Amino acid sequence: MISLKLKAIAFFIDKKDKVVDVGCDHAYLDIYLAKNNLCKNIIASDINENALNNAKKNIARYNLTKKIKCILSDGINEINIKDINTVVIAGMGTKTIKHIISNKEKFKNIEKIIISSNNDHYLLRKFMNKNHYYLEDEKIVFDKNHYYVISKYKHGKQKLNNKELMFGKYKLENKNYYEYLFKENKKILEKIPFTKFKARKKIKKENKILKKYLNIK
Ligand SMILES: C[S@@+](CC[C@H](N)C(=O)[O-])C[C@H]1O[C@@H](n2cnc3c(N)ncnc32)[C@H](O)[C@@H]1O
Repeated sequence: MISLKLKAIAFFIDKKDKVVDVGCDHAYLDIYLAKNNLCKNIIASDINENALNNAKKNIARYNLTKKIKCILSDGINEINIKDINTVVIAGMGTKTIKHIISNKEKFKNIEKIIISSNNDHYLLRKFMNKNHYYLEDEKIVFDKNHYYVISKYKHGKQKLNNKELMFGKYKLENKNYYEYLFKENKKILEKIPFTKFKARKKIKKENKILKKYLNIK
């Protein structure tokens, strides 16, 4: 059974897309896309040989070897740009994602990037914004006791305000996520000593916005 996170990623993929799944690991996303004919073609890729071998085994188990190409690569460095127009980068930290996207030459003709970072969503949105990527949509899913943020980017200029950099575009459907962040921040605040004025101010600022989102007086 595919995870809700991978299903949310698949939601952003269209029939015409030529996809590379960077850091495919088990290749569950690629198997799901191929089995359900959800895109034009698929490359499963990973920097780690063991992970890619694992992907190959899973792909073979589902008789999808002819439909999914496997390539060993750091980001999309080894991928032929003619074979792809959509890049999925999921299950990695923002630092690695920034490293992958920094290959500007390779990314200049990519039409869509779908990202699910494990951390630092503020820094990631800021980086994408600064590098002229347009945040077209974002979905937040709760899966196995964890919130995942899945973002769809395209090339284009956009000025996100500070609130949007912190939490993405406000959506009523994300109330549970805002509530979770609010509570987590309260716990963090309890641990930060009063002398750490700057750190406390940052958390307080976040919670002021979250309070508004949650209609708390
Ligand atoms: C936790 S798995 C994520 C699997 C799947 N994408 C998901 O979200 O469920 C992270 C994978 O990213 C791969 N990875 C890390 N850095 C990478 C890079 N620079 N290029 C390609 N793959 C990378 C790792 O080898 C690992 O298999």
